[in-house]
Amino acid sequence: MTRKLEGKIAVITGGSAGIGLGTAKRFAEEGAQVFITGRRQSELDKAVAELGRNATPIRADVSDLADIDRIYEIVKAKAGRIDVLFANVGIYELGTFGEITEEHFDRTFNTNVRGLLFTVQKALPLLMAGSSVILTGSIASIKGFPSLSVYNASKAAIRSFARSWIIDLKGRDIRINVLSPGHTQTPGLSVLADEAVRDAMKANVPLGRMGTPDDLAKAAVFLASDDSNYISGIELFVDGGVAQF
Ligand SMILES: NC(=O)c1ccc[n+]([C@@H]2O[C@H](COP(=O)([O-])OP(=O)(O)OC[C@H]3O[C@@H](n4cnc5c(N)ncnc54)[C@H](OP(=O)(O)O)[C@@H]3O)[C@@H](O)[C@H]2O)c1
Repeated sequence: MTRKLEGKIAVITGGSAGIGLGTAKRFAEEGAQVFITGRRQSELDKAVAELGRNATPIRADVSDLADIDRIYEIVKAKAGRIDVLFANVGIYELGTFGEITEEHFDRTFNTNVRGLLFTVQKALPLLMAGSSVILTGSIASIKGFPSLSVYNASKAAIRSFARSWIIDLKGRDIRINVLSPGHTQTPGLSVLADEAVRDAMKANVPLGRMGTPDDLAKAAVFLASDDSNYISGIELFVDGGVAQF
């Protein structure tokens, strides 16, 4: 059977854990050469051990613009181009309105919004005609969640970026879409929400279960591949139905 991403060069930020790692696995199975980024070398090493020889780890923090430059220097030297960019890094931490600190705001926006913006902008010289850019959003882009207003706003900003960037890039044949997870079992979510909170989340999902990184990965393969070649600017919710009520 033909693989959907045969020969493609894919960059996945935050590819050493959770949704990013799940997607890196699917991309590699579909024939892509994947570059994965993350801050912790230990997690990158573990991920590459799972992914095999088609994966290259790059230690980089997307809130540091010099680190983003380094990602693309390495990708340019090793592959010369990018066919799929999955700008997936996002942090979520609680901040109750009334007690929100500058540090909480800056950490969240520097990573989720500023980091994502420069992750995509700095990739532009390497993005080929026909390439696909996927931004990780969240159901939080259109829903309210208590004590998460800064995070929720960061995800609304990402959704907005896609709307404008497809116009800014008109004529370059680059598709940009937002992939928005619902409640998904990942290492990051386990830090934010204990088992009782995760059970309450699950009870709220029309499909009756939490998402898995692989649920997101399958949708990412769709957005990355030619199967979605006339789809640009959308927000695809992969959430068991949670965003719709
Ligand atoms: N899980 C959910 O329920 C859920 C729901 C909606 C949306 N999302 C979104 O999905 C995306 C992935 O979430 P996840 O749950 O898979 O997260 P996760 O399990 O915490 O994994 C995050 C990944 O990003 C890396 N990372 C974090 N901060 C980074 C930074 N500043 N620079 C570079 N890499 C960084 C982590 O590695 P290091 O820590 O080593 O850097 C790790 O590889 C995020 O954008 C999140 O907002 C998740």
